[in-house]
Amino acid sequence: MRFTLNVDHVATLRNARGEDVPDPVTAALLAEQSGVDGIVVHLREDRRHISERDLRLLRELVTTKLDLEMAVTDEILEIACDVQPELATIVPEKRQELTTEGGINVIDNIVLLRDAVSTLHENSIAVSLFIEPEIEQIDAAAEIGSDLIEIHTGVFANCKVEEEQFDELEKIRLAAKHAKKLGLGVNAGHGLNYTNMKVFRELTDIDEVSIGHAVLARAFFVGLDRAIKDMIEIIKK
Ligand code: PXP
Repeated sequence: MRFTLNVDHVATLRNARGEDVPDPVTAALLAEQSGVDGIVVHLREDRRHISERDLRLLRELVTTKLDLEMAVTDEILEIACDVQPELATIVPEKRQELTTEGGINVIDNIVLLRDAVSTLHENSIAVSLFIEPEIEQIDAAAEIGSDLIEIHTGVFANCKVEEEQFDELEKIRLAAKHAKKLGLGVNAGHGLNYTNMKVFRELTDIDEVSIGHAVLARAFFVGLDRAIKDMIEIIKK
């Protein structure tokens, strides 16, 4: 299982004072040195954290893999095609939300998403769709030519009762297995942390986890290098 780090929170902190630090680009480069397999950023329509400057610098400097989380709008699609990240992860986006709140409904947005996938492919960008662990959504993702899916793990991460968490994990396991059978790559993310990863790492069909909040929160106290290495140790065990 690979581990990519989402550095949006570093930009949120920088923007809180309208100054230059901490710089998410510096964080990304340090994270690569600490062993992450890729860097994830979400360029939001309202630019509340990552800016175009961040994205363009990251494109120049990241040597592992750049994964751009994005909503399908004309503006963001145009930027994505120009910047050419290795991967574009399509997410639903609501202005009021604190963070992405759930997967995109591929079935309800099939025409829009099919066009977006083909535009991104024309620009040599692999595409992932952030979806719930549901078979019909996975089938629709495969049907429109997505290369990967990213399974939303927020429900699993929020489970307080062990049996419920087990049920959610089982749902994700079956979804990942189904996606693999269809030839899709399988990423996962949202709410994964140092505790639930000890259970989540057992899922052999998940290729990659995308984690932000838990690792950056820990980095405040122990430093970014330690926080990343602690997570890598859990994932690789
Ligand atoms: N994957 C997607 C698609 C996301 O939107 C987010 C949050 O930005 C994450 C993964 C990472 O979630 P968290 O910050 O809870 O680790």
